[in-house]
Amino acid sequence: ATILVLHGPNLNLLGSREPEVYGATTLADINQRLTERCLKDGHHLQALQSNAEYELIDRIHDAKREGVNFIIFNPAAFTHTSIALRDALLAVGIPFIEVHLSNVHKRESFRHHSYFSDVAVGVICGLGAQGYELALDAALNQLA
Ligand code: DQA
Repeated sequence: ATILVLHGPNLNLLGSREPEVYGATTLADINQRLTERCLKDGHHLQALQSNAEYELIDRIHDAKREGVNFIIFNPAAFTHTSIALRDALLAVGIPFIEVHLSNVHKRESFRHHSYFSDVAVGVICGLGAQGYELALDAALNQLA
């Protein structure tokens, strides 16, 4: 299967960005772990980080054409703002898991609402970088 992992704004700074909140693992490390896990089981991983909403939207549209089977998505701050990204996921109908490194529910109230959670297969938050690996396990289980 082909799995797409999408990372929203500011996640390019992982490792140095508020490490007490987001941990010390870099985005490259996260993508590397996911890629290795996929390769081991004969799957393909594609990854994109973008600070631009339209690039994430365009990538979701392309995913449909390419036959991507599952998306793992940390929309970062767009979680709390982006009807456009929600609509893109609904438009393509590709199942996805929403991931957050931090436990958004223990943070500011503006982080408690997500435009994605009610249309996601599942949501993982507060488990740091491990959350992506758990999401990948769950995605591969769902596809099996
Ligand atoms: C985040 C949580 C969001 O509220 C925040 O805007 C982020 C990262 C997380 O992974 O914990 O940029 O999605």
